[in-house]
Amino acid sequence: MSIILCPIYLSPSGIVTLSLPYKYQLIPPQFSLIKQHTLTMTTHIDTLYLFTLTSTSINFILFITILTLVYFINSLFQWAHPGGPAWSRVKSTIPGPRGYPIIGSMYLMSGLAHRKIASVVVSCNARRLMAFSLGQTRVIVTCNPNVAKDILNSSAFADRPVKESAYRLMFNRAIGFASYGVYWRTLRRIAATHLFCPKQLKVSETQRRVIGFQMVDMFRNEQNQLSSLCVRDVLKRASLSNMMWSAFGRKYNVNSNDGESVALRELVDEGYELLGVVNWTDHLPWLSDFDPQGVRSRCGKLVPKVNRFVKRIIDEHRDQPSQVNGDFTDVLLSLEGSDKLSEPDMIAVLWEMIFRGTDTVAVLIEWILARLVLHVDIQAKVQDELHRVVGMSRAVTEADIPSLVYLNAVVKEVLRLHPPGPLLSWARLAINDTIIDGHEIPAGTTAMVNMWAICRDPEIWKNPLEFRPERFLDETEGLVDMSVMGTDLRLAPFGSGRRSCPGKGLGLTTVSFWVALLLHEFELGRCDAYGVDMSETLKLSCEMANPLRVSLRSRKMKEI
Ligand code: HEM
Repeated sequence: MSIILCPIYLSPSGIVTLSLPYKYQLIPPQFSLIKQHTLTMTTHIDTLYLFTLTSTSINFILFITILTLVYFINSLFQWAHPGGPAWSRVKSTIPGPRGYPIIGSMYLMSGLAHRKIASVVVSCNARRLMAFSLGQTRVIVTCNPNVAKDILNSSAFADRPVKESAYRLMFNRAIGFASYGVYWRTLRRIAATHLFCPKQLKVSETQRRVIGFQMVDMFRNEQNQLSSLCVRDVLKRASLSNMMWSAFGRKYNVNSNDGESVALRELVDEGYELLGVVNWTDHLPWLSDFDPQGVRSRCGKLVPKVNRFVKRIIDEHRDQPSQVNGDFTDVLLSLEGSDKLSEPDMIAVLWEMIFRGTDTVAVLIEWILARLVLHVDIQAKVQDELHRVVGMSRAVTEADIPSLVYLNAVVKEVLRLHPPGPLLSWARLAINDTIIDGHEIPAGTTAMVNMWAICRDPEIWKNPLEFRPERFLDETEGLVDMSVMGTDLRLAPFGSGRRSCPGKGLGLTTVSFWVALLLHEFELGRCDAYGVDMSETLKLSCEMANPLRVSLRSRKMKEI
C-alpha cells in the first residue's frame, strides 16, 4: 500500500477538493475533473470515508514522525549524562564514557573487554570508580583494590545481574546465579559441607591422583605419536573426568572416547560458549523478541539434552544408591527436610558443578604451562624444587604441595598475569541503594571489578608486566604471605565476599597437583613450528587464543 500526501480543501458548499499529483489521478464515477491537476468530489458516505482514511493516514504518519523525533531527542538528552544513557535518571557524579546514544558503551564488552575497559578508565581518569552504560544497564567498574573490597564485600552487592542465557540454562536454580536469599544460602552450605570442605578434599585426593596419572600417560602416548602435543584437549578431558567422578561417580579414563563422556563434553562446550556471549537483549530489552544472536534458540535446544543426560544419571543413583563415600548426586538425593531439592533443582546444581569445575582448571593449567615453556629458567627452578622435595624415586603427592613453595609462587604469578576471570567472570548486582567510594549507587546497578587491571597496576606491583614468581618469595617486596583466596584484593582471582568462588580450594589444589605431576615427569619445550602465542580470547574465562603446543622430554629417562 502506498500513502499519498496531498492538500485537502473543504469549501462551505460541502465540496471537498483534493489536490493530487497528476500521476495519481483516479477518475471513478463520483469524481469530476475540474482542473487538470485537481479532483473534486461530493460529500457522499463513501467519499467521506476516503476523506477520513486520508486524514487518518496523515495523522498517523505525523504521530509516528513526532514520536520518533521525541524518542531521538530524549535519547540524545539521556546520552548527554556522564556514564551514558542508562545513567540519565540518576543524579550521579561518577565519571565515565557516554558511549553512543541508546546502546551506550556496548562496544566495550566485545572482544577483550578487560583491556578495553582498563584503557577507557585511564582516559576518563576513573581508576577508583567509573560509570558506563550497556544499553539500559547501569554499570560501575573499579580498578582499585580498596573499592573492589567495598563492592565485593558489601551486602548490597550480593546478587548477580539477570542474564538470559544463565536463566535459560537453569543456572538461576544453581549457586552461581541464584538470587541472594535462603535458597542460595542452602545450596552454598550443602556444597561447602559435601564437596568443598577440607575433609572432602582429602577424600577426593585419590581420584585426582588416578586422573593425574592418566593425564601423564596420555601426554606420553600423544607425544610418541606426534612431534608436538596440544595440551588443551588433554587438560579439558582430565578436568571433565575429575568433575564427572565427583558429581556423578563416573570413573572414565581420560583417554576414553566413551559415548557418555563425549556427549557431556559437547554439552559443556555449548553451555560454556552460550554463557560467554555478551547477549545484546540482556541490555536492550526491546530487542528481546528478535533474539538477534540466536542465544535463546540455542539454549532451547541445549536444555532438554542436559535434562535428559543428568536425569538418567539421577535415576540410576535412585535405583542403586552408594553406601560409602557417595558422590555429589548421592548427597543431593539423601537430603531431607527443608534442604531437600526438587529434581529440576538437582539437575541445575549438578550441571553447574560439572560446568564450573571443568574449564576454569584447564584454562589456568594451560596458562601456567605456557609461561613455563616461555621461561625455561623458571621451569628449571620448579624442577629443582621437585627434585629436592620429592626426589625421583617416588611420585608427587598432594601432601608435597605446601612444601613446593616456588611452584606455589609460580601459580600465584600466573593468576596475577592471566586471571581466568579478568572481570571476575560474573558481575554483581546491587539489591538496594548503597554508597561506594562516596558515590550514591542506586539498586539495580551492575558492578564489575577489573581484577586484570588491578593485577597489572604499576602503583601496586613492581614491574607488573614482568613474569617473576620471586616477587612472592622476596621478603623486601612484602608479598610472602599473600593469599589469593579473597582477603587481599590486590590479587583476588576467585573473587571475595559472600559470593566468592566456593570451589577455590578444590580448583587450586587440582591445578597445583597436576602441574607438579607433569613437571616431575616431563621437561616441556617450545614447538618451533608453532611457538608460544600469549594472545588472549575472552569467553566465559580468558583463555589462550591459540592452544598451546609443546614438545616433551621425559625427566625420568634423563635421570637414568
Ligand atoms: C582455577 C579455578 C577457578 C577460578 C579462577 C574461579 C573463579 C571464580 C570467580 C572469579 C567467581 C566469581 C566470584 C565473585 O563474584 O566474587 C567464581 C564463582 C563460582 N565458582 Fe569458581 N573458579 C574456579 C574454580 C571453580 C571450581 C573448581 C568450582 C566447582 C567445582 C567453582 C564453582 C564456582 C561457583 C558455584 C561460583 C558461584 C558462587 C556464587 O555465586 O555464590 N569454581 N569462581
